[in-house]
Amino acid sequence: MENDLQGQVIFVTGAAGGIGLGITRAVVEAGGCVAMADLDQEVVNEARENLVAGATGAADRNLIALTVDVSNQQSIKNAMNATIDSFGQLNGLVNNAGVIRLGENLSASIEDWRKQFEINVFAVHLCCTEFANLLVERDLAGDDKLASIVNIASNAGKVGYPNMAGYNASKAAVISLTRTLSAEWADRNININAVCPGGVLTPMLHEVARSIGDRIGEDAGELVKTMVPAQLGRHIDPVEVGRIVAFLLSDAATIIRGQSINVDGGDTPY
Ligand SMILES: NC(=O)c1ccc[n+]([C@@H]2O[C@H](COP(=O)([O-])OP(=O)(O)OC[C@H]3O[C@@H](n4cnc5c(N)ncnc54)[C@H](O)[C@@H]3O)[C@@H](O)[C@H]2O)c1
Repeated sequence: MENDLQGQVIFVTGAAGGIGLGITRAVVEAGGCVAMADLDQEVVNEARENLVAGATGAADRNLIALTVDVSNQQSIKNAMNATIDSFGQLNGLVNNAGVIRLGENLSASIEDWRKQFEINVFAVHLCCTEFANLLVERDLAGDDKLASIVNIASNAGKVGYPNMAGYNASKAAVISLTRTLSAEWADRNININAVCPGGVLTPMLHEVARSIGDRIGEDAGELVKTMVPAQLGRHIDPVEVGRIVAFLLSDAATIIRGQSINVDGGDTPY
């Protein structure tokens, strides 16, 4: 298949849970290897072991588990270098790690705004730049070698949902950064796109339901059941997002460039 990731090595941030785990599964399904990078080594080790033990097709040789704090440039550099040392190459990057702070903007703190921009935006810039520089430094770039980046933005960056102003703004920034880097790095042979999920059943969606539940006095467990894309009538599974990401990482997606594609079950029509 053209969208095969056979023999490709993909660095995925925030890979220990939620959408990051779904992306890892999908890349392995497509024949690729993943450097699973997340904040806590024990947690990411466990996530890796579960994938290898489960019926996912993942084997020991397909996956490594690494610590990274995407807000720290040296930490990113170390983790990406460790990936190249381990697999001998690096072909793709998925900027998936993200955080959300909820509540109406009148009482939002500047610390919460800073945190969301630090992890959702500045870290995407840092990871993209380290990736692009390392390909050159480690002699992995070339005219015949296409590399790819997929950023996990959000439909929130387009819609502007209430009670998450800082998050919405940070994801809009990711959409813009994706467009700019796509144009700037075309001559480096790096293809860059983003996806805009919504309604994916992960710990973050539970966090959103808890916050809304607290505000309106409803049970978060019941609320989360209603947070499904209307056209789809069910939650999106993280691996479904992962399969679109795997396609965008592949050579088959070379003509899709600088785009931010909705993967939210039809909720956002633009
Ligand atoms: N769940 C949804 O419906 C949804 C919708 C739109 C966008 N998103 C985006 O998808 C991405 C993944 O979301 P999720 O729902 O799986 O969230 P999640 O909270 O379940 O997972 C986020 C992961 O990022 C990791 N992370 C956080 N800070 C980090 C740091 N400094 N360094 C390294 N890793 C860090 C966490 O440890 C965690 O494993 C995020 O960027 C989120 O904004 C999610």
